[in-house]
Amino acid sequence: MRTVFFVGKGGVGKTTSSASLAFHLASAGGKVYWVSIDPAHNLCDIAGCRPFRGAREIAPNLLAEEIDMERCTEAYIEKNIARMKETYRYLGILNLEGAFDILRYSPGMEEAAVTAALADGIRRYRERIDCIVVDTPPTGLMLRMFALPFTSILWIEKLSEWRRTILGRRKTVNSILGKDSPYREAGDEAGEDPVLRELGVEAERASFLKAVFADACVVLVTDQERLSLDESLRIRDGLARIGIGISLVLLNKFRALNETGKRTIEAFSDRTVVKVPFVEDTADRKVLAETAAGWAELITRTE
Ligand SMILES: Nc1ncnc2c1ncn2[C@@H]1O[C@H](COP(=O)(O)OP(=O)(O)OP(=O)(O)O)[C@@H](O)[C@H]1O
Ligand SMILES: [Mg+2]
Repeated sequence: MRTVFFVGKGGVGKTTSSASLAFHLASAGGKVYWVSIDPAHNLCDIAGCRPFRGAREIAPNLLAEEIDMERCTEAYIEKNIARMKETYRYLGILNLEGAFDILRYSPGMEEAAVTAALADGIRRYRERIDCIVVDTPPTGLMLRMFALPFTSILWIEKLSEWRRTILGRRKTVNSILGKDSPYREAGDEAGEDPVLRELGVEAERASFLKAVFADACVVLVTDQERLSLDESLRIRDGLARIGIGISLVLLNKFRALNETGKRTIEAFSDRTVVKVPFVEDTADRKVLAETAAGWAELITRTE
């Protein structure tokens, strides 16, 4: 199974290109899960269907889903506040419960929620899907999303280490104070510790996503505007910092090569740059599917 991410500056044609690939592969008989994690959704606009919740088969072999960022972030926060309150129940005596409600305003919640939703979607459908096509959010959020599993793994390792130290100290206090120990209720066994268990769940999800990202095909969509090239270079460098390479570059809405186009080809001379022609009717599914005919094979072949 292949996972393909479409990245690029706003308006260059990420959603359109992801639609092209999704329709192309589905019309050739491949089972496709086309998912948008862009808060400004337009999968439905492009596919010409009414917005819907969850995943739905919008064409034969083509399952589409728009992850509602706002709803999924809200749900993620509520679920995690509840989990934290449950995990740290014993802190109730210190009246620290309210501190968890502040999580609502914590930075990083959007990318955490969106990557969790993406991981769930991939897990749910990967057994019956040949290709997952992902339309990504704007660059800043997209880069944070890709970086998240890498940073999470480092943090989880550190937090687990600290947690084990805390449990070790508790054990010492418990053995000295016996039934008078304030930690008697909280427990001191690593195997039974709810915090370590939660960290384990997060570690598993982060490793799963890290593997998905490391194995994915990243398609950079750009056009011949100078600002698109500037952002493309930032994306390339940002992804390179976390060890993710760009597999293919689409020079979209192509009519005639200009200076920026030449610079783009030069900047990505170690990659295949495909000129994707400007098409008159991007709302036509057949036209979209045909647009990908020139490059879809490069993706399915890229390792
Ligand atoms: N090959 C093409 N030929 C002609 N028009 C195109 C082509 N690709 C995209 N477009 C048009 O460019 C506009 C932007 O495309 P699209 O919405 O796919 O970009 P995007 O990168 O997803 O934008 P956003 O960052 O806002 O999500 C749309 O009007 C779309 O129809
Ligand atoms: Mg888009």
